[in-house]
Amino acid sequence: MTQDELKKAVAKKAIDYVIEGEIVGVGTGSTANFFIDYLAEIKGRIEGTVASSEASKERLQSHSIPVYDLNVVDRVPVYVDGADEADPNLCLIKGGGGALTREKIIADVAEKFICIADASKNVKVLGQFPLPVEVVPMARSHVARELVKLGGDPVYRDGFVTDNGNIILDVHNMQIAKPVELEEKINNIVGVVTNGLFARRSADVLLLGGENGVETITL
Ligand code: 5RP
Repeated sequence: MTQDELKKAVAKKAIDYVIEGEIVGVGTGSTANFFIDYLAEIKGRIEGTVASSEASKERLQSHSIPVYDLNVVDRVPVYVDGADEADPNLCLIKGGGGALTREKIIADVAEKFICIADASKNVKVLGQFPLPVEVVPMARSHVARELVKLGGDPVYRDGFVTDNGNIILDVHNMQIAKPVELEEKINNIVGVVTNGLFARRSADVLLLGGENGVETITL
């Protein structure tokens, strides 16, 4: 199976977690896009969605699926999103698509976070994928210096502006043995908006697509 076929398989499986008549939180990226396309097939059975990026919002609206502002919904029972890496504790690196801040907000609000990923995202220790950090533009150099002190090699994502008007530093060569601690340390650097470690709020369910089908992993 191709990587796209694996992504489609997990996206389809995630539909099982959608709750009738409720709001669905929707992530960002190619796997989330497949999920949006499957969601369109059952759009009459949900109240609507909240979107983690302008790109996902546009795709949802192109299917005539209602998209609400997060501030006007009471609850988000389920959030479905992809990941760049997932470890055995269901801690994640996210933000390859630069939508990490809105993704983290919706994940935090959500009662259940369903992560959908192909098997290439499954790792023992996080950090092979460069860790995205969203930064207020004027703090770029300061934050980069602080990230070097933490042992990383930050690289400015040239020409990229987040939906929130900020920049991204992709931090290479981090061996992330203690994801919860590192997430907190990076968040404490002044000028950081958020970082792509989803460890304090990890996934509740990981749907992992491999050659033998979709594996459902929970803790
Ligand atoms: C976007 C993300 C994505 O979930 C992550 O990059 C995975 O993307 P894809 O599904 O295209 O492999 O965090 O900010």
